[in-house]
Parts: sequence; C-alpha cells; structure tokens
Amino acid sequence: MNKLEFQNIKFIKDNKIIINNLSLNFDSKKVYSLVGPNGAGKSTIGKLIMGFSGYNKFDGDVIFNNKSIKNLNITKRVNLGITMTLQEPVRYSGISINDYLSINDSDILKQKKCLEKVGLDSELYLERNLDETLSGGERKRVEFASILLMKPKVIILDEPDSGIDINSIDFISKMLREFQKMHSIVIVITHNIEILEKTDYSYLVCNGNLVDFGESKYINKYFKNKCIKCSHKNTPEKIIQI
Ligand SMILES: Nc1ncnc2c1ncn2[C@@H]1O[C@H](COP(=O)(O)OP(=O)(O)O)[C@@H](O)[C@H]1O
Ligand SMILES: [Mg+2]
Repeated sequence: MNKLEFQNIKFIKDNKIIINNLSLNFDSKKVYSLVGPNGAGKSTIGKLIMGFSGYNKFDGDVIFNNKSIKNLNITKRVNLGITMTLQEPVRYSGISINDYLSINDSDILKQKKCLEKVGLDSELYLERNLDETLSGGERKRVEFASILLMKPKVIILDEPDSGIDINSIDFISKMLREFQKMHSIVIVITHNIEILEKTDYSYLVCNGNLVDFGESKYINKYFKNKCIKCSHKNTPEKIIQI
C-alpha cells in the first residue's frame, strides 16, 4: 500500500501564511478529496506535494512511503510516481495524442485500450493533434488516458471538472475508481459537492487551515451547510512584522 503524509506544513509566500501547520494523511485504500472555497490553499497543497518551483521551501515535511521527499526536485518526485493534473486541460500544438501518450508508453495497442477506457474512439483520436481543435473535455480525457498508461503511485487531480462539460461528473467518478484499481493514491482537489460525494474521505481546508476531515458524506453536509453560505473572505493575512 502506498502512503503519503503531509506533515505539519507551514508555507509562507509574499509574507502571507498560505498553508498553516497543516497535516494530511493519504493512502491507496480510499479516494480522497481536498475540498474548500476558492483561495483556501488547495492547489498550493498539490504544488507542495509535487515540488513545483517556488513551492519547495516550507516548514514541516512531505513523507512518501516512509521517506522524506522534501529535498527532492520535481523530476525525482515524478520518477517516484507522483503526478498532478492541472485545472486547465493540456494543450500542445503540433503534438498528436499518439505522441503525448508515448511519453508514458509507446505501445499502440495499450494506447488504444486506454483511449477506449476514457470514452474516446482510438481510430478517430490517436492521430489528432492535442490542440484547441479538441474540446476541454476531450483533452481532459486524453490526460486521464495518459495517467492510465503511466500507472503513477500518487495522482493529484486539480479541479478535474473545470473547463469540461457538465455531464462529466459520472465520467470523473468512474475514472477515480479506475485509478484506485491501479493501487494509486487518488487525491481530488475540488469545490464541487457532486465530485466530493464520489470520494470516500475528505479534508476540508479554509484559509490554509484544516477545518475538518472525515468520511465524505459527513464533510459534504458541513461544506454544503456552512462553507457554501459562508461570506468569510478567504484571503491569507499578512504576517505582522514586530
Ligand atoms: N505563488 C503564489 N504567490 C503568492 N500568493 C499565492 C501563490 N500561490 C497561491 N497564492 C495565494 O494563496 C492562496 C491559496 O491559493 P490556492 O492554493 O490557489 O487556492 P485554491 O486552490 O484553494 O483556490 C490564495 O490567496 C492565493 O492568492
Ligand atoms: Mg485551485
């Protein structure tokens, strides 16, 4: 079983506390969501786990399968099997879907099988360019096919429903379970209640703080009844210099 621990992390940017002594634990038994309003710090948590530039100096530690990855650069983390999809679906002009999928596995039969799994007819799509001639939803599906080929150990999906069609919730839910079948740690970043409901366990974050955690059906009620109605301005406070 894979295990990821986000241990007591404090992350300061531009003199503002973006993440405040936050601890989160993930494993490959459940599908997790990281939920909270806009500006809560959800994407930042993903970027800290990946080690994007500007996101590798913080207090606390990130432990993957009992080893600290805090001092590893992004390439080393990717090589360990940690990956993240960003809000905006991928788009490359001059690169075909076949080229893009070949980054993970150049076996055409496997590529076709994964395209079919994400609901794309491989005969129609494999040679198409991964550019704006495809819809956001189609490009997101290609990203998911690429994850199926990659078989990563940690999959962080940042707002997977953004920029794609409304009927995508069932598709996303199906993909979450496909990823779980690969024994990956699956973490979905979202502020969409319908997506939250499709996960097993949730961490609720607000203003860089952990507000609550537990089974998604329990956190769902809290989020629906308190957070959505809450008018609290979700901007990090400046650190007061003494
Ligand atoms: N690189 C950065 N520099 C300065 N502020 C940032 C940076 N990244 C995020 N923030 C701030 O941190 C807060 C949390 O951002 P983010 O993690 O993107 O929130 P969420 O994904 O929950 O909407 C926001 O107030 C945002 O403006
Ligand atoms: Mg975000």
